[in-house]
Amino acid sequence: MSDVLNGEPLDLLFRKARTHNIWHDKPVEESLLQQVYELARMGPTSANMGPMRIVFVKSPEAKERLKPALDPGNVDKTMKAPVTAIIGMDVHFYEKLPKLFPHADAKAWFKDLPANVLEYIALRNSSLQGAYFMLAARALGLDCGPMSGFNNAKVDEAFFAGTSIKSNFLCNLGYGDASKLYPRSPRLSFEEACKLV
Ligand SMILES: Cc1cc2nc3c(=O)[nH]c(=O)nc-3n(C[C@H](O)[C@H](O)[C@H](O)COP(=O)(O)O)c2cc1C
Repeated sequence: MSDVLNGEPLDLLFRKARTHNIWHDKPVEESLLQQVYELARMGPTSANMGPMRIVFVKSPEAKERLKPALDPGNVDKTMKAPVTAIIGMDVHFYEKLPKLFPHADAKAWFKDLPANVLEYIALRNSSLQGAYFMLAARALGLDCGPMSGFNNAKVDEAFFAGTSIKSNFLCNLGYGDASKLYPRSPRLSFEEACKLV
């Protein structure tokens, strides 16, 4: 087995992968979402805390619940996407640490931290997991449309009321219509973005 990816897999994950806004009318099965999560959960997080929690919004009823929280520019594409993942984060992630980091009392490291610090830690790690999730989705043939243009408080009220979970970002999922893409925007070069010291 080769231990590097070449050519097409790299195109699929990065070079030809795009953020999609227009979706083919092709459903996304729950079994595929499960496979995406099974891969994404393997990516690293601090103390293996894995704070990401996901609600997959698929039914028309749930989409209607999400709609009032969306910025106007995100409504149409989200309503038409086969599935919208709410990438959330459990700010009381430390409750799961006895299971997830069993070789040390990691819960004690976090449980008394101020709420803003817990949220900062959860945001960092759930954002990483959200990125793993998008790469896993691409690896399994799905297209993604991530969005931060929404009202977090409204999403939290509609989907996470009474829990310690807060929304991080949204990600439409499905099979994108590549013929409707805008030209790819530039990225910073290595010289612009990186320094070797
Ligand atoms: C965290 C995040 C939030 C984003 N929020 C929005 C959004 O609210 N609405 C939107 O149309 N696009 C949004 N985008 C899409 C970006 O503009 C897009 O991913 C970027 O321009 C790269 O496009 P490309 O993947 O096609 O190269 C978001 C992307 C990310 C990763």
